[in-house]
Amino acid sequence: MASDHPVFTRAYEVIAALGERAGLGDLRGRVLGEARGRVLIVGLGPGHDLDHLPEAVTSVVALEPSASMREAARPRVLSLASRGIDIEVLDAPAESIPLPDASVDAVLVAYVLCSVQDPRAALAEIHRVLRPDGTLHVLEHVRARPGSWLRGTQRLVSPWWPRCAGGCRVDRDTGALLDESGFDMSEITLTRLLTLPPVAPTLVGVARPVRPEVP
Ligand SMILES: C[S@@+](CC[C@H](N)C(=O)[O-])C[C@H]1O[C@@H](n2cnc3c(N)ncnc32)[C@H](O)[C@@H]1O
Repeated sequence: MASDHPVFTRAYEVIAALGERAGLGDLRGRVLGEARGRVLIVGLGPGHDLDHLPEAVTSVVALEPSASMREAARPRVLSLASRGIDIEVLDAPAESIPLPDASVDAVLVAYVLCSVQDPRAALAEIHRVLRPDGTLHVLEHVRARPGSWLRGTQRLVSPWWPRCAGGCRVDRDTGALLDESGFDMSEITLTRLLTLPPVAPTLVGVARPVRPEVP
């Protein structure tokens, strides 16, 4: 499972803070706009998403297996708690979520499905804990189009990138994995906004659990 990468944590704190100023904060707010009730954040990182939760969110449970990332998130966790929103940060991986079935109204995955060791297991767990009428909020960079210069760049860096970037795979086909895992992707778009090659393009939007057809 994910181990701690303190050097990556320091670097990511800087990148994430710069990203907020460059417009990523607005994008996080847009992705989270429809979230309500009890929200699960998978891979909290330094916790910038906590600053963009809409008022309809009443409580948060966040998964973060890296101790240095939990430490980096502490100021934002305390700030959210001081606003009266119940928040719990768990040292647990997405592949084994310590929550009951259908126990959260919304899940956020932001720049994390690239890093989990077993994305199929993680998505099966997310599907299990999300209520059938719940929402999966997605902000994830994915594999570029075959033949594009971006895909060529991803191919070049992919052998060593995960070692430098906390296990991140730049060429994961996360859209296909979401689809295979039983999520309706019709409200998800692919954007080149805030492109930072090779970390692009990016899936943005809300996916919903596919409901079984009634015969
Ligand atoms: C690139 S950071 C993104 C953090 C945050 N979601 C954001 O948007 O800034 C990826 C985070 O996922 C966490 N992570 C890695 N593997 C994980 C797993 N199997 N389950 C949950 N979180 C994981 C890492 O520790 C790291 O904090």
